[in-house]
Amino acid sequence: MKRTIRDLKNIKGKRVLLRCDFNVPLDEYGDIVDTTRIDEAMPTINYLLEQGCKLIICSHLGRPKGFDKFLSLFPVAVYLMKLLPNRVKFSHKVIGPEVTNMVKELKDGHVLLLENTRFDPREEQNDPKFVEELASLADIFVDDAFGTAHRKHASNYGVALKLPSAIGFLIEKELRAFEDAFEHAKHPFIAVFGGAKVKDKLPLISNVIGKADSILIGGGMAYTFLLAQGINIGNSIVDLELVEEAKRILKLAEEKHTEILLPIDHVALVDEKKVKTVALLEAGMVGYDIGPKTIAMFLERINHAGQIIWNGPLGKFEDSRFEKGTLKIAKAVAKNYAYSIVGGGDSISAVNKIGCGKYVNHLSTGGGASLKLMEGKTLPAIEVIDTL
Ligand code: 3PG
Repeated sequence: MKRTIRDLKNIKGKRVLLRCDFNVPLDEYGDIVDTTRIDEAMPTINYLLEQGCKLIICSHLGRPKGFDKFLSLFPVAVYLMKLLPNRVKFSHKVIGPEVTNMVKELKDGHVLLLENTRFDPREEQNDPKFVEELASLADIFVDDAFGTAHRKHASNYGVALKLPSAIGFLIEKELRAFEDAFEHAKHPFIAVFGGAKVKDKLPLISNVIGKADSILIGGGMAYTFLLAQGINIGNSIVDLELVEEAKRILKLAEEKHTEILLPIDHVALVDEKKVKTVALLEAGMVGYDIGPKTIAMFLERINHAGQIIWNGPLGKFEDSRFEKGTLKIAKAVAKNYAYSIVGGGDSISAVNKIGCGKYVNHLSTGGGASLKLMEGKTLPAIEVIDTL
Protein backbone atom coordinates (compact mmCIF):
# COMPACT_ATOMS: atom_id res chain seq x y z
CA MET A 1 0.00 0.00 0.00
CA LYS A 2 1.36 3.42 -0.94
CA ARG A 3 2.09 5.90 1.83
CA THR A 4 -0.41 8.77 1.74
CA ILE A 5 -0.15 12.23 3.25
CA ARG A 6 -2.32 11.01 6.15
CA ASP A 7 0.57 8.72 7.12
CA LEU A 8 3.07 11.59 7.35
CA LYS A 9 3.48 12.50 11.01
CA ASN A 10 5.10 15.56 12.68
CA ILE A 11 5.41 17.53 9.50
CA LYS A 12 4.94 20.98 10.99
CA GLY A 13 7.67 23.27 9.67
CA LYS A 14 8.87 20.65 7.18
CA ARG A 15 9.60 21.64 3.58
CA VAL A 16 7.29 19.61 1.35
CA LEU A 17 7.78 19.49 -2.42
CA LEU A 18 4.32 18.86 -3.89
CA ARG A 19 4.04 17.81 -7.54
CA CYS A 20 0.66 18.80 -8.96
CA ASP A 21 -0.71 18.52 -12.47
CA PHE A 22 -1.54 22.16 -13.19
CA ASN A 23 -1.48 21.49 -16.92
CA VAL A 24 -4.68 23.50 -17.38
CA PRO A 25 -6.11 24.92 -20.62
CA LEU A 26 -5.42 28.64 -21.12
CA ASP A 27 -7.18 30.98 -23.57
CA GLU A 28 -5.45 33.51 -25.86
CA TYR A 29 -5.41 36.06 -23.00
CA GLY A 30 -3.64 33.62 -20.69
CA ASP A 31 -6.78 33.07 -18.59
CA ILE A 32 -7.48 29.60 -17.24
CA VAL A 33 -10.40 28.05 -19.12
CA ASP A 34 -10.97 25.10 -16.77
CA THR A 35 -9.67 25.11 -13.19
CA THR A 36 -10.69 21.50 -12.39
CA ARG A 37 -7.12 20.22 -12.02
CA ILE A 38 -6.26 23.01 -9.55
CA ASP A 39 -9.52 22.65 -7.61
CA GLU A 40 -8.97 18.90 -7.34
CA ALA A 41 -5.50 19.48 -5.84
CA MET A 42 -6.86 21.81 -3.14
CA PRO A 43 -7.75 19.12 -0.56
CA THR A 44 -4.09 18.03 -0.52
CA ILE A 45 -2.78 21.61 -0.51
CA ASN A 46 -5.14 22.64 2.31
CA TYR A 47 -4.33 19.56 4.36
CA LEU A 48 -0.55 20.11 4.13
CA LEU A 49 -0.96 23.80 4.98
CA GLU A 50 -3.15 22.95 7.97
CA GLN A 51 -0.36 20.66 9.16
CA GLY A 52 1.95 23.69 9.11
CA CYS A 53 4.21 22.63 6.23
CA LYS A 54 6.21 24.97 4.04
CA LEU A 55 4.77 24.00 0.67
CA ILE A 56 6.82 24.19 -2.54
CA ILE A 57 4.55 23.31 -5.45
CA CYS A 58 5.79 22.38 -8.90
CA SER A 59 4.06 21.40 -12.14
CA HIS A 60 4.47 21.40 -15.89
CA LEU A 61 2.17 23.28 -18.27
CA GLY A 62 1.91 22.33 -21.93
CA ARG A 63 4.85 21.04 -23.95
CA PRO A 64 7.29 23.98 -24.15
CA LYS A 65 10.71 23.63 -25.68
CA GLY A 66 12.57 25.84 -23.21
CA PHE A 67 11.10 29.10 -21.87
CA ASP A 68 7.75 30.13 -23.39
CA LYS A 69 5.96 33.13 -21.90
CA PHE A 70 2.58 31.74 -23.04
CA LEU A 71 3.10 28.66 -20.88
CA SER A 72 4.06 30.33 -17.62
CA LEU A 73 2.40 29.04 -14.44
CA PHE A 74 1.83 32.64 -13.35
CA PRO A 75 -1.96 32.48 -14.10
CA VAL A 76 -2.13 29.43 -11.84
CA ALA A 77 -0.28 31.36 -9.11
CA VAL A 78 -2.85 34.17 -9.41
CA TYR A 79 -5.70 31.67 -9.05
CA LEU A 80 -4.02 30.09 -6.01
CA MET A 81 -3.50 33.57 -4.52
CA LYS A 82 -7.28 34.08 -4.72
CA LEU A 83 -7.97 30.76 -2.99
CA LEU A 84 -5.25 31.26 -0.34
CA PRO A 85 -4.97 35.03 0.20
CA ASN A 86 -1.59 36.33 1.41
CA ARG A 87 -0.12 32.85 1.53
CA VAL A 88 1.16 32.25 -2.01
CA LYS A 89 4.37 33.42 -3.69
CA PHE A 90 5.46 32.70 -7.24
CA SER A 91 9.00 32.00 -8.39
CA HIS A 92 9.73 33.04 -11.98
CA LYS A 93 12.58 30.54 -11.93
CA VAL A 94 12.23 26.76 -11.85
CA ILE A 95 15.42 26.21 -9.89
CA GLY A 96 18.57 28.05 -8.84
CA PRO A 97 19.83 30.38 -6.07
CA GLU A 98 16.77 32.66 -6.20
CA VAL A 99 14.47 29.69 -5.62
CA THR A 100 16.67 28.41 -2.79
CA ASN A 101 16.44 31.84 -1.12
CA MET A 102 12.68 32.00 -1.55
CA VAL A 103 12.37 28.57 0.06
CA LYS A 104 14.55 29.76 2.98
CA GLU A 105 12.16 32.66 3.52
CA LEU A 106 9.01 30.54 3.21
CA LYS A 107 6.88 30.60 6.36
CA ASP A 108 5.05 27.60 7.83
CA GLY A 109 1.61 27.26 6.24
CA HIS A 110 2.67 29.23 3.14
CA VAL A 111 3.11 28.23 -0.51
CA LEU A 112 5.80 28.85 -3.09
CA LEU A 113 4.77 27.91 -6.64
CA LEU A 114 7.71 27.29 -8.98
CA GLU A 115 7.68 28.21 -12.67
CA ASN A 116 6.84 25.52 -15.28
CA THR A 117 9.25 22.60 -14.73
CA ARG A 118 9.37 21.94 -18.49
CA PHE A 119 11.08 25.30 -19.05
CA ASP A 120 14.14 23.33 -17.97
CA PRO A 121 14.88 20.69 -20.64
CA ARG A 122 16.33 18.44 -17.94
CA GLU A 123 12.83 17.82 -16.53
CA GLU A 124 11.71 15.45 -19.27
CA GLN A 125 15.14 13.76 -19.38
CA ASN A 126 14.83 12.95 -15.65
CA ASP A 127 18.34 14.44 -15.42
CA PRO A 128 20.08 13.41 -12.16
CA LYS A 129 21.54 16.89 -11.53
CA PHE A 130 18.12 18.52 -11.95
CA VAL A 131 16.56 15.87 -9.69
CA GLU A 132 19.25 16.62 -7.09
CA GLU A 133 18.56 20.36 -7.25
CA LEU A 134 14.79 19.91 -6.91
CA ALA A 135 15.14 17.40 -4.08
CA SER A 136 17.51 19.75 -2.19
CA LEU A 137 14.61 22.21 -1.80
CA ALA A 138 12.59 19.87 0.42
CA ASP A 139 12.51 17.29 3.22
CA ILE A 140 9.55 15.31 1.86
CA PHE A 141 8.07 14.73 -1.60
CA VAL A 142 4.33 14.43 -2.17
CA ASP A 143 2.99 13.44 -5.57
CA ASP A 144 -0.58 14.47 -6.40
CA ALA A 145 -0.09 14.85 -10.16
CA PHE A 146 -2.26 11.96 -11.32
CA GLY A 147 -2.43 13.29 -14.89
CA THR A 148 1.38 13.08 -15.18
CA ALA A 149 1.88 9.77 -13.39
CA HIS A 150 2.50 7.86 -16.66
CA ARG A 151 5.61 10.02 -17.25
CA LYS A 152 9.05 9.31 -15.79
CA HIS A 153 10.17 12.89 -15.36
CA ALA A 154 12.47 14.55 -12.83
CA SER A 155 9.75 16.33 -10.83
CA ASN A 156 7.64 13.23 -10.28
CA TYR A 157 9.66 10.03 -10.84
CA GLY A 158 13.17 11.34 -10.11
CA VAL A 159 12.50 13.20 -6.84
CA ALA A 160 10.37 10.35 -5.49
CA LEU A 161 13.51 8.19 -5.51
CA LYS A 162 15.50 10.84 -3.62
CA LEU A 163 13.17 11.93 -0.80
CA PRO A 164 10.77 10.24 1.62
CA SER A 165 7.57 10.23 -0.40
CA ALA A 166 3.79 9.93 -0.24
CA ILE A 167 0.78 10.33 -2.52
CA GLY A 168 -1.81 13.07 -2.11
CA PHE A 169 -5.59 12.80 -1.85
CA LEU A 170 -6.20 13.23 -5.58
CA ILE A 171 -3.98 10.32 -6.63
CA GLU A 172 -5.51 8.23 -3.86
CA LYS A 173 -9.03 9.05 -5.11
CA GLU A 174 -8.14 8.32 -8.75
CA LEU A 175 -6.50 4.96 -7.94
CA ARG A 176 -9.45 3.90 -5.80
CA ALA A 177 -11.99 4.75 -8.50
CA PHE A 178 -10.25 2.67 -11.17
CA GLU A 179 -9.48 -0.18 -8.77
CA ASP A 180 -13.14 -0.34 -7.70
CA ALA A 181 -14.32 -0.31 -11.30
CA PHE A 182 -12.09 -3.18 -12.34
CA GLU A 183 -11.86 -5.30 -9.21
CA HIS A 184 -15.40 -4.89 -7.89
CA ALA A 185 -17.24 -4.22 -11.14
CA LYS A 186 -20.98 -3.71 -10.94
CA HIS A 187 -22.70 -5.56 -13.74
CA PRO A 188 -23.81 -5.04 -16.40
CA PHE A 189 -20.43 -3.39 -16.91
CA ILE A 190 -20.58 -1.24 -20.04
CA ALA A 191 -17.42 0.25 -21.58
CA VAL A 192 -17.82 3.04 -24.12
CA PHE A 193 -14.79 3.82 -26.27
CA GLY A 194 -14.27 6.36 -29.00
CA GLY A 195 -11.63 8.62 -30.47
CA ALA A 196 -9.94 8.70 -33.82
CA LYS A 197 -6.75 6.71 -33.22
CA VAL A 198 -7.52 3.00 -33.08
CA LYS A 199 -3.87 2.22 -32.27
CA ASP A 200 -4.10 4.07 -28.94
CA LYS A 201 -7.24 2.22 -27.91
CA LEU A 202 -6.52 -1.43 -28.80
CA PRO A 203 -4.71 -2.23 -25.49
CA LEU A 204 -7.64 -0.68 -23.66
CA ILE A 205 -10.22 -2.79 -25.49
CA SER A 206 -8.13 -5.94 -25.01
CA ASN A 207 -7.92 -5.32 -21.25
CA VAL A 208 -11.66 -4.78 -20.88
CA ILE A 209 -12.63 -7.91 -22.84
CA GLY A 210 -13.66 -10.58 -20.36
CA LYS A 211 -14.34 -7.96 -17.68
CA ALA A 212 -17.03 -5.82 -19.30
CA ASP A 213 -20.34 -7.23 -20.49
CA SER A 214 -20.56 -4.89 -23.49
CA ILE A 215 -18.08 -2.65 -25.26
CA LEU A 216 -19.65 0.12 -27.34
CA ILE A 217 -17.28 1.48 -29.97
CA GLY A 218 -17.75 4.75 -31.84
CA GLY A 219 -15.59 7.55 -33.20
CA GLY A 220 -12.97 7.23 -35.93
CA MET A 221 -11.62 3.98 -34.49
CA ALA A 222 -14.92 2.20 -35.19
CA TYR A 223 -14.21 2.17 -38.93
CA THR A 224 -11.18 -0.11 -38.60
CA PHE A 225 -13.42 -2.58 -36.74
CA LEU A 226 -16.23 -2.24 -39.29
CA LEU A 227 -13.76 -2.95 -42.11
CA ALA A 228 -12.51 -5.97 -40.15
CA GLN A 229 -16.11 -7.25 -40.29
CA GLY A 230 -16.14 -6.72 -44.06
CA ILE A 231 -18.45 -3.70 -43.88
CA ASN A 232 -18.02 -0.86 -46.37
CA ILE A 233 -16.70 2.29 -44.69
CA GLY A 234 -16.56 4.64 -47.70
CA ASN A 235 -13.71 7.11 -47.25
CA SER A 236 -13.82 7.14 -43.46
CA ILE A 237 -10.65 7.13 -41.38
CA VAL A 238 -9.08 3.70 -41.08
CA ASP A 239 -5.81 2.13 -40.00
CA LEU A 240 -5.28 -0.61 -42.59
CA GLU A 241 -2.34 -2.07 -40.70
CA LEU A 242 -4.59 -2.80 -37.73
CA VAL A 243 -7.49 -4.49 -39.50
CA GLU A 244 -6.10 -7.98 -38.72
CA GLU A 245 -5.59 -6.99 -35.08
CA ALA A 246 -9.17 -5.70 -34.96
CA LYS A 247 -10.34 -9.10 -36.29
CA ARG A 248 -8.37 -10.84 -33.54
CA ILE A 249 -9.97 -8.61 -30.90
CA LEU A 250 -13.48 -9.25 -32.23
CA LYS A 251 -12.80 -13.00 -32.06
CA LEU A 252 -11.36 -12.76 -28.55
CA ALA A 253 -14.43 -10.85 -27.39
CA GLU A 254 -16.67 -13.60 -28.76
CA GLU A 255 -14.66 -16.27 -26.97
CA LYS A 256 -14.77 -14.35 -23.68
CA HIS A 257 -18.49 -13.52 -23.99
CA THR A 258 -18.03 -9.77 -24.13
CA GLU A 259 -20.39 -8.21 -26.63
CA ILE A 260 -18.80 -5.62 -28.94
CA LEU A 261 -21.28 -3.21 -30.52
CA LEU A 262 -20.24 -1.17 -33.54
CA PRO A 263 -22.16 1.64 -35.29
CA ILE A 264 -25.08 0.54 -37.45
CA ASP A 265 -25.65 3.96 -38.99
CA HIS A 266 -23.61 7.11 -39.46
CA VAL A 267 -23.79 10.87 -39.87
CA ALA A 268 -21.58 11.31 -42.90
CA LEU A 269 -20.20 14.00 -45.11
CA VAL A 270 -21.34 13.01 -48.60
CA ASP A 271 -19.65 15.80 -50.49
CA GLU A 272 -17.78 18.92 -49.42
CA LYS A 273 -20.78 20.39 -47.59
CA LYS A 274 -23.65 17.91 -47.54
CA VAL A 275 -24.24 15.95 -44.35
CA LYS A 276 -26.49 12.89 -44.40
CA THR A 277 -27.48 10.07 -42.08
CA VAL A 278 -26.83 6.74 -43.77
CA ALA A 279 -26.95 3.07 -42.88
CA LEU A 280 -24.28 2.18 -45.39
CA LEU A 281 -21.26 4.26 -46.20
CA GLU A 282 -20.68 4.37 -49.94
CA ALA A 283 -17.50 5.38 -51.74
CA GLY A 284 -16.77 9.08 -51.21
CA MET A 285 -18.71 9.28 -47.93
CA VAL A 286 -16.90 9.99 -44.67
CA GLY A 287 -18.50 8.92 -41.39
CA TYR A 288 -18.03 11.53 -38.67
CA ASP A 289 -20.63 10.61 -36.05
CA ILE A 290 -22.80 7.70 -34.94
CA GLY A 291 -26.34 7.88 -36.35
CA PRO A 292 -29.70 7.80 -34.47
CA LYS A 293 -30.10 4.00 -34.62
CA THR A 294 -26.64 3.52 -33.14
CA ILE A 295 -27.38 6.09 -30.44
CA ALA A 296 -30.60 4.22 -29.56
CA MET A 297 -28.75 0.88 -29.47
CA PHE A 298 -25.97 2.31 -27.27
CA LEU A 299 -28.49 4.06 -24.96
CA GLU A 300 -30.33 0.79 -24.45
CA ARG A 301 -27.13 -0.76 -23.02
CA ILE A 302 -26.14 2.36 -21.03
CA ASN A 303 -29.58 2.71 -19.48
CA HIS A 304 -29.40 -0.82 -18.09
CA ALA A 305 -25.82 -0.59 -16.87
CA GLY A 306 -24.58 -1.23 -13.34
CA GLN A 307 -21.33 0.53 -14.17
CA ILE A 308 -20.06 2.55 -17.12
CA ILE A 309 -16.57 3.59 -18.09
CA TRP A 310 -16.18 6.00 -20.98
CA ASN A 311 -13.11 7.18 -22.84
CA GLY A 312 -13.09 9.07 -26.15
CA PRO A 313 -15.68 10.96 -28.23
CA LEU A 314 -18.11 9.03 -30.45
CA GLY A 315 -17.58 11.37 -33.39
CA LYS A 316 -15.97 14.61 -34.51
CA PHE A 317 -17.86 16.46 -31.77
CA GLU A 318 -15.88 19.70 -32.03
CA ASP A 319 -17.87 20.25 -35.27
CA SER A 320 -21.52 20.98 -34.31
CA ARG A 321 -22.77 18.94 -37.30
CA PHE A 322 -21.23 15.83 -35.74
CA GLU A 323 -21.64 16.43 -32.01
CA LYS A 324 -24.98 14.74 -31.38
CA GLY A 325 -23.73 11.19 -30.78
CA THR A 326 -21.09 12.23 -28.26
CA LEU A 327 -23.39 14.64 -26.41
CA LYS A 328 -26.29 12.17 -26.21
CA ILE A 329 -23.97 9.49 -24.85
CA ALA A 330 -22.39 12.02 -22.44
CA LYS A 331 -25.80 12.87 -21.03
CA ALA A 332 -26.82 9.23 -20.71
CA VAL A 333 -23.56 8.24 -19.01
CA ALA A 334 -23.79 11.12 -16.53
CA LYS A 335 -27.50 11.06 -15.74
CA ASN A 336 -27.66 7.40 -15.00
CA TYR A 337 -28.04 5.44 -11.80
CA ALA A 338 -25.03 3.36 -12.80
CA TYR A 339 -21.62 4.10 -11.31
CA SER A 340 -19.81 6.15 -13.96
CA ILE A 341 -16.17 6.91 -14.68
CA VAL A 342 -15.21 9.30 -17.46
CA GLY A 343 -11.57 9.69 -18.50
CA GLY A 344 -9.83 11.60 -21.28
CA GLY A 345 -9.94 15.32 -22.04
CA ASP A 346 -12.51 15.13 -24.88
CA SER A 347 -15.02 12.99 -23.01
CA ILE A 348 -14.75 15.28 -19.99
CA SER A 349 -15.30 18.39 -22.12
CA ALA A 350 -18.35 16.67 -23.64
CA VAL A 351 -20.00 16.01 -20.25
CA ASN A 352 -19.08 19.51 -19.10
CA LYS A 353 -20.41 21.05 -22.33
CA ILE A 354 -23.88 19.76 -21.50
CA GLY A 355 -23.48 20.76 -17.84
CA CYS A 356 -23.50 17.16 -16.61
CA GLY A 357 -20.00 16.84 -15.16
CA LYS A 358 -21.33 16.98 -11.61
CA TYR A 359 -23.45 13.87 -12.18
CA VAL A 360 -20.51 11.65 -13.16
CA ASN A 361 -19.28 9.60 -10.19
CA HIS A 362 -15.63 9.94 -11.13
CA LEU A 363 -14.36 12.47 -13.66
CA SER A 364 -10.70 11.58 -13.99
CA THR A 365 -8.15 14.40 -14.12
CA GLY A 366 -5.84 12.20 -16.18
CA GLY A 367 -5.95 11.61 -19.93
CA GLY A 368 -2.97 9.36 -20.72
CA ALA A 369 -2.71 8.25 -17.09
CA SER A 370 -6.34 7.09 -16.88
CA LEU A 371 -5.91 5.29 -20.21
CA LYS A 372 -2.96 3.36 -18.79
CA LEU A 373 -4.98 2.31 -15.73
CA MET A 374 -7.86 1.18 -17.95
CA GLU A 375 -5.29 -0.81 -19.95
CA GLY A 376 -4.47 -2.61 -16.70
CA LYS A 377 -0.99 -1.07 -16.51
CA THR A 378 0.73 0.56 -13.55
CA LEU A 379 1.88 4.17 -13.45
CA PRO A 380 5.68 4.55 -13.03
CA ALA A 381 5.60 7.76 -10.98
CA ILE A 382 3.26 6.10 -8.47
CA GLU A 383 5.20 2.82 -8.43
CA VAL A 384 8.24 4.64 -7.00
CA ILE A 385 6.37 6.20 -4.06
CA ASP A 386 7.24 4.72 -0.67
CA THR A 387 5.03 1.93 0.59
CA LEU A 388 3.84 1.52 4.16
C1 3PG B 1 -2.04 15.60 -19.48
O1 3PG B 1 -2.60 16.68 -19.73
O2 3PG B 1 -2.45 14.52 -19.97
C2 3PG B 1 -0.92 15.58 -18.51
O3 3PG B 1 -0.73 16.81 -17.90
C3 3PG B 1 0.36 15.10 -19.15
O4 3PG B 1 0.79 16.00 -20.13
P1 3PG B 1 1.77 15.50 -21.28
O5 3PG B 1 1.01 14.53 -22.14
O6 3PG B 1 2.22 16.72 -22.01
O7 3PG B 1 2.93 14.79 -20.59
